[in-house]
Amino acid sequence: MKTIAFFNTKGGVGKTTITSEAAIFASENLSGRVLVIDTDINASLLDYAYDRETKHDMPFPEVTGHVQSNIDRLIKSLRNGEKYDYVIIDCHGDFDQLDKNLMYEADLVVLPVMMDEKSVRPTIKVIQEKILPIIDEREGELDYVILINNIKKNYGPLERNLISLIQQSGLNLCPKKILKHDAKFRDVWHAGITMMEVYNNKMDKSYENAGINLKLVLADIFKRVS
Ligand SMILES: Nc1ncnc2c1ncn2[C@@H]1O[C@H](COP(=O)(O)OP(=O)(O)OP(=O)(O)O)[C@@H](O)[C@H]1O
Ligand SMILES: [Mg+2]
Repeated sequence: MKTIAFFNTKGGVGKTTITSEAAIFASENLSGRVLVIDTDINASLLDYAYDRETKHDMPFPEVTGHVQSNIDRLIKSLRNGEKYDYVIIDCHGDFDQLDKNLMYEADLVVLPVMMDEKSVRPTIKVIQEKILPIIDEREGELDYVILINNIKKNYGPLERNLISLIQQSGLNLCPKKILKHDAKFRDVWHAGITMMEVYNNKMDKSYENAGINLKLVLADIFKRVS
């Protein structure tokens, strides 16, 4: 069983969106048994999964919420139960006891980041100050990767500077990027479908590149834990 946590102390960077896409990707492409855990008090992922299943009659992997700080014990018992191949977690990102305990059991932490200073600098800081010490303590059993989300195809000097800031910090950066193009994730969510489903069904040409990129990114992420 592999446990992947989508985490960032910064809000609105795509944790919930990418968690949902990753869960559906795993259940469809890796034919893995998937459990999704929503640890965010706002429970947006639970809402999305519920709407998708009830309003749109589209499947979503098993999902649970209301997790307490003893998530480390939950993960241990899930591992012993051997019922799931992937446990995918939408974090709330406070780095409180819940997040901390999670870091002691997860295999991989993915940190989505949007290309603005207010998102990039705190992401670097939280990795250096909070995550790297736990990786040391766990002697490398925990892995992490920064995932650049929502960047335009023809990005400019601002984005280039921020990318080199991450590169200079020597931290792990997911090599592929999710491109925005004309993709409107909000619309996609409302429709109860994922970017990949839009792309697979060729419902809208403008989503094509974003769909391809997202698939490459997710394939990369799952390869890291295989
Ligand atoms: N690649 C993208 N392209 C366009 N819009 C995106 C992209 N990723 C996320 N969004 C949009 O950005 C907003 C924030 O995304 P999301 O809710 O997934 O972030 P979050 O990190 O879970 O936020 P929170 O901290 O509130 O839990 C949503 O409206 C989502 O649709
Ligand atoms: Mg969220």
